[in-house]
Amino acid sequence: MAAFVPPNERPERSPHLPFGDCREAPFYGKDIISVSQFNREDLEYIFGVAREMRAMVERVGTFDLLKGKILANLFYEPSTRTSSSFFSAMERLGGSVIPINEVTYSSVAKGESLPDTIRTLECYADVIVLRHPEVGSAALAAEYARKPIINGGDGIGEHPTQALLDLFTIKEELGEVDGLTVTMLGDLKYGRTVHSLARLLSLFTVRLNYISPDILRMPPELIEKLEAKGVSQKEYSTLEPVLAETDVLYVTRVQKERFENLDEYEKVKGAYVITPETLEQTKDKMIVMHPLPRVGEISLEIDADPRAAYFRQMEYGLYVRMALLAMVLGKA
Ligand code: ASP
Ligand code: CP
Repeated sequence: MAAFVPPNERPERSPHLPFGDCREAPFYGKDIISVSQFNREDLEYIFGVAREMRAMVERVGTFDLLKGKILANLFYEPSTRTSSSFFSAMERLGGSVIPINEVTYSSVAKGESLPDTIRTLECYADVIVLRHPEVGSAALAAEYARKPIINGGDGIGEHPTQALLDLFTIKEELGEVDGLTVTMLGDLKYGRTVHSLARLLSLFTVRLNYISPDILRMPPELIEKLEAKGVSQKEYSTLEPVLAETDVLYVTRVQKERFENLDEYEKVKGAYVITPETLEQTKDKMIVMHPLPRVGEISLEIDADPRAAYFRQMEYGLYVRMALLAMVLGKA
């Protein structure tokens, strides 16, 4: 047995570097909190790994890249895709998962704070995916954690892994991102997916159109930030003026759970519905995306249209999340 070394005499440990993994791997031990941490080179790297993951899943289904690693899936808000795609990603890589999908059955219900919950889970897991209703919660968790924190959505703030899978979808479906016109429609005020995606797209030469009811407009601070980076952005209240030029139509749900006054929600919930008639006015080579869940914004009749990319988008998410787990755990 090794001689006992008192804690204050033990060698310094980088807060995010568990022992025994390849320290040279890009993103090793890093948190994924905001899309602002990525540049175009990083995106190429992530997407390259995601393509390898897809090839491996198609070839062998499950393999042992993360054998012995454990993911804690800590969800304070409902989720189907983010929680189960991270779960599936970890299992397909040979690792395992502690699922806390309903915090009311955890000690959070006894009043345990987020930092203490994080400190607890990192004793048992190598990486934590956190979804939480407060903006900044993932950054707060990362301050306390020694293990990587992946932001699975922090209130109306960001949803960075969604934006990565959205961008991957655009690349795989349309080839190039530069030169595209991306039209975001629906709840641009509370929708964290559009906040992250608009920021990520600002790394490219794109035109962004924002279509929303007046009370759900894209936050002005975000528009100003992108303006300063020279991104072309225009706001509209209807879709018609930009339909013909749109390459990516990114539809979002009105985020009912974020409204203080449900009467306001009732007024805007049905503001836009994409139907086969809408698609008659678009290019043949364009895609319709949606982070999902949908609650009426896209009519079921267009699911069979090849331009409807929202189900394929979910599958791209699996490969991107496999890539991210492998990267932060030093195996890619
Ligand atoms: N699932 C996405 C999110 O959690 C979009 C949505 O819920 O409307 O942000
Ligand atoms: N797109 C997305 O985040 O879906 P879930 O809310 O189901 O995780």
